[in-house]
Amino acid sequence: MESGALLVAGLEVVYGRSVRALHGISLDVPANGVVAVLGANGAGKSTLLRAVSGTLSLHRGAVTAGTIHYGGTRLAGRDPALIVRAGVVQVPEGRRVFANLSVDENLQAGALSTRGLRQGKDGTAKARANRDRVFELFPVLAERRTQRAGLLSGGEQQMLAIGRALMAAPRLLLLDEPSLGLAPMMVGRIAGVIREIAAQGVAVLLVEQNVTVALDLADKAYVLDVGEVRLAGSSADLARTDEVRRLYLGEEEAAGADAAGTPAPPAPRKPLRRWGE
Ligand SMILES: Nc1ncnc2c1ncn2[C@@H]1O[C@H](COP(=O)(O)OP(=O)(O)O)[C@@H](O)[C@H]1O
Ligand SMILES: [Mg+2]
Repeated sequence: MESGALLVAGLEVVYGRSVRALHGISLDVPANGVVAVLGANGAGKSTLLRAVSGTLSLHRGAVTAGTIHYGGTRLAGRDPALIVRAGVVQVPEGRRVFANLSVDENLQAGALSTRGLRQGKDGTAKARANRDRVFELFPVLAERRTQRAGLLSGGEQQMLAIGRALMAAPRLLLLDEPSLGLAPMMVGRIAGVIREIAAQGVAVLLVEQNVTVALDLADKAYVLDVGEVRLAGSSADLARTDEVRRLYLGEEEAAGADAAGTPAPPAPRKPLRRWGE
């Protein structure tokens, strides 16, 4: 297996005793680049990320079948701290920062799980280097470093949540709807940073409802639908499918008729891999 690649196979997740949220999904994320997971509310996107980061049990969920491997190491059922140390770090949905702590303290909290921190002085130096890198990516966080996180705007809190995850020096970053509820200009800034993070060699698994942003950032994408992978392919191919254009990009006409009702000729496209075919 490619080192640093994430492989999910036949993953099933159940919440409580009976809510089946994932019905055997499979996907892979290479060691470099951005992979997007799209899908409506309730499709199972957050559940997938929680399964990878080992945090399902915090939500009374559990993996009931299938496997998750990262760089050849089995992740399913492992302790979340161990998964972080393996290089896989999640930014949860809803940018949960510590509102009463300063920006600096929030970033320090992210460094607690850094491998380097366990090695005394070196660790501190490493944490400082990571923080400098975060401040380079997000200059506004450097300007506000002594401010309480709760006073930041929504977009700045999202930056802080991403920055906090970067303090653990991830090799695979799991992002859960980073654009949710943000103004378009802020969405653009966050997208730019995600692109920069990926360019620095961090693999990104990006969960989004904002399909335009996600397909723009990602090399390939999966569409989840009620716990199953419905479509998978390169972002370019997916953006061309009628299904994605109609359901997710809001292009009513893409289904095959122009304004006068004349059926449009089918758009040429490469065959897409459909799960289960
Ligand atoms: N803690 C939970 N307990 C019970 N059911 C849950 C829990 N979290 C999510 N679910 C259910 O699992 C399914 C997938 O949810 P989720 O992964 O949050 O979807 P998405 O992130 O795509 O909106 C939904 O039917 C949701 O109601
Ligand atoms: Mg979600």
